[in-house]
Amino acid sequence: MDHFNYREGQLYCEDVPLERIADECGTPTYVYSRQTFTDHFTRIRDAFAELSPIICYSIKSCHNLSILSMLKDLGSSFDVVSGGELKRALEIGADASKIVFAGVGKTEEEITHAIDSGIGWFNVESEQELEHIDRIAGQLGKPATAALRVNPDVDPQTHRYTTTGKKETKFGVDMERARRVFKEFGRDRHVKLTAIHIHIGSPVNKIEPYVASTTKAVDLIQSLRNDGFEINALNIGGGFGANYEKDEAPPAKAYAEAVIPILRDTNLQLLLEPGRSISGNAGVLIGRCIYTKSSGDKQFLISDASMTELLRPALYEAYHFVWPVKPAGGLIPPHRGHDLKLDGTLLMDVVGPVCESGDFIAKDRWLPPVERGDLIAAFTSGAYASVMASHYNSRPQAPEVLVEGNTFRVVRNRETYDDLVTAERV
Ligand code: LLP
Repeated sequence: MDHFNYREGQLYCEDVPLERIADECGTPTYVYSRQTFTDHFTRIRDAFAELSPIICYSIKSCHNLSILSMLKDLGSSFDVVSGGELKRALEIGADASKIVFAGVGKTEEEITHAIDSGIGWFNVESEQELEHIDRIAGQLGKPATAALRVNPDVDPQTHRYTTTGKKETKFGVDMERARRVFKEFGRDRHVKLTAIHIHIGSPVNKIEPYVASTTKAVDLIQSLRNDGFEINALNIGGGFGANYEKDEAPPAKAYAEAVIPILRDTNLQLLLEPGRSISGNAGVLIGRCIYTKSSGDKQFLISDASMTELLRPALYEAYHFVWPVKPAGGLIPPHRGHDLKLDGTLLMDVVGPVCESGDFIAKDRWLPPVERGDLIAAFTSGAYASVMASHYNSRPQAPEVLVEGNTFRVVRNRETYDDLVTAERV
């Protein structure tokens, strides 16, 4: 599933021992594997090849410029949700005409910049937003194309914070309202409403919700076409799973095999917005044990990697497999499941130095004994890790390192204390 493997008792990324990176770059540090990014992107591209989709990698999952540039070279386009993400896509020379711009609260400034840049589609979430885009496109005298985000009311069976395709969430408009929106905005406007967008949640480790939501979208498109509206594209969003434990995420091929038959004869340009399924397993976060201590029966491993580098456990109680980079007693993990309990391991919480009891990256795990100075790795930290980092407790942002075969390079420097205060005035 990725290129992070134990060899001769220690963890490697591709052909580079993580210890070497830690010694040279310090900790905490995010480490990415180029080959894993490539493999995951290629699998999605190949799985959906029959429909020649436009794959818009979701920048929000991991936004480092060198990653975006690598994906662009593999043929990826981009899904952006802010002026900042648009800047990143344009910075690496992405083809603007294939960029999709999503988000419920696009500002006047962001819309103007996006139209000026000639982006492909706005994924529109409300009538007010459509009015706004229509007016700005008119003033600029430049066309804008939009996909209406509809809410298919399908349960993606994932965390409530990352469920988006249910009626009660803030995203999109419901099916009934979609028809009314097309009546009002579907003809003779500066904004051309010619596509439908759905995104049901993230991660979605089931195939069925995609079948249900894509079928509903195609039915809607059929009825809109019957009413004379010209719809030429369907964006089925992102949300494909990543393997945090064993094989809980279906392979790209399985999603594709279920969705392709629904779309085969529809004459629609398919767009996809995968993020985590490409970036999730392509990164780990490494940290160093600062201290160990025990309290009652509990052991604590206090690492320099914390919630400010990996917020997901604190925010969603998300599971990330954590293991020493050079495990004592040669205890190499046979898998990354939450139920792993090898002989010689101790029950531990892996916590950071931040002043919050929610500052943990792993709770109640059976880990090999760890000493001060040992390195640990939190796996599947390529997606929604560095991008959700914060400066809480005035912690400088950790660097990002990209491994390519037997070499590595720093693709984002570690912030300094000066960087932390540079934008402030006394
Ligand atoms: N398209 C839209 C409209 C989205 O809202 C998202 C993610 C994606 C695509 C990409 O989803 P992916 O393929 O990466 O699952 N912070 C959370 C995830 C939030 C996802 C937000 N939207 C986490 O750490 O799990």
